[in-house]
Amino acid sequence: MKLGRLNHIGVATPSIEASIAYYRDVMGATKIHAPFDLPSQGVKVCFIDTPGENETHGTQIELIEPLGEGSPIHSFIAKNPHGGQHHMCYEVPDIFVAKAEFEAIGKRVLGEPRIGAHGTMIFFLHPKDMNGVLTEIMETPKGAH
Ligand code: CO
Repeated sequence: MKLGRLNHIGVATPSIEASIAYYRDVMGATKIHAPFDLPSQGVKVCFIDTPGENETHGTQIELIEPLGEGSPIHSFIAKNPHGGQHHMCYEVPDIFVAKAEFEAIGKRVLGEPRIGAHGTMIFFLHPKDMNGVLTEIMETPKGAH
């Protein structure tokens, strides 16, 4: 396993609209993407760019708001009513190679690889196996970086 680019940090929020106002007005974010629903994951999502080199963007902030009662982040918001840091996402060149590598060293993959918010394959690893951090692994989008 070779550490890949930190693609995004997931931040759970009870209100994407309120969080957008915070990142814009307090943190000075200027590149805020349009929020969209991701029903397959039970979340509403909004990406905010941090600056990168040249004209590219750096690591993104992924705001996630529960979508429906069955949302996987419903209990997180119940425990953290103001929201909070939820996961970190690293890029890999091949999702299935990465899955096999993590499983070979006993790390628990949560569910099967699936299409994530960037339209490429992702999976999550159990935080208890990952130094306390819910970790998302994402295949690098084609043509990115
Ligand atoms: Co994510």
